[in-house]
Amino acid sequence: MNLIDMFGIKGKKAIVTGGSRGLGYAMAEGLHEAGAEIVLIASNEEKLKRAAEKLGKEGAKVYYAAADLGQTHMLDRTYEKAMGCLGGHLDILINGAGVQYRCKAEDFPADRWQSVINVNLNAVFTLCQLAGRTMLAQGSGKIINIASMTSFFGSEMVPAYSASKGGVMQLTKALSNEWASRGVNVNAIAPGYMITELTGDMKAKNPGQYQEITNRIPAHRWGQPEDLMGAVLFLSSRASDYVSGAILPVDGGYLGK
Ligand SMILES: NC(=O)c1ccc[n+]([C@@H]2O[C@H](COP(=O)([O-])OP(=O)(O)OC[C@H]3O[C@@H](n4cnc5c(N)ncnc54)[C@H](O)[C@@H]3O)[C@@H](O)[C@H]2O)c1
Repeated sequence: MNLIDMFGIKGKKAIVTGGSRGLGYAMAEGLHEAGAEIVLIASNEEKLKRAAEKLGKEGAKVYYAAADLGQTHMLDRTYEKAMGCLGGHLDILINGAGVQYRCKAEDFPADRWQSVINVNLNAVFTLCQLAGRTMLAQGSGKIINIASMTSFFGSEMVPAYSASKGGVMQLTKALSNEWASRGVNVNAIAPGYMITELTGDMKAKNPGQYQEITNRIPAHRWGQPEDLMGAVLFLSSRASDYVSGAILPVDGGYLGK
């Protein structure tokens, strides 16, 4: 096999949560462009349908399954639906969905704490477990979780988000320890500061923090969703067969400074 073929994922089957917009959509777009069949999962059915139609206009098929990932007890049904679309085989799972809630720690509402942890951590574990069972039975699979800079350091005003993303990093390593010898690679991408709806209001609402972050990024710019595509293709393909338990920053050099 030549080196370029090692990055090939044509015909592979993937599930991407958070695939309706932002980073999840861009990661799905990258996989689709490389020939993968995909099921998008997100909460808003209308937006999700539009995203699936846009992506699936040409090339491999794109399906969707709307679900509130915060309702973790319902996820086995969503997973079953997605697997029905993919004919019972799964090569790639990307846990891209995530939410953030900004509030001073001393005032942080208990229900917000729970909902952030449910979507960002509990749903990630549940989907890893469901996909892991399928992939272990197949003897192959690639799981990519989406961590964050707050997996490495706690930020301000986002205690639940920071705790959830720290959890995603450690969960990724823990699952890798159990599954890497059985053909299932579990890795995470830690995006730096990326321009999406999640972060879109920071420039307007907190220009001081926005400028401070921008000055600190060695690449001198915030990331675009497309900046994740290369890392996603690498971690989804045979090129990364000996990479597991890794947390790959895609951050314009932020963590190195
Ligand atoms: N934007 C950044 O700078 C940045 C940096 C690091 C990590 N991340 C992470 O990347 C991922 C995507 O972030 P984004 O910036 O594209 O955010 P976004 O707000 O643009 O998109 C979030 C996606 O998650 C889905 N989602 C949210 N809550 C859901 C729920 N309860 N059930 C089902 N789906 C739900 C939304 O439908 C949407 O598709 C998140 O995990 C986020 O924490 C983002």
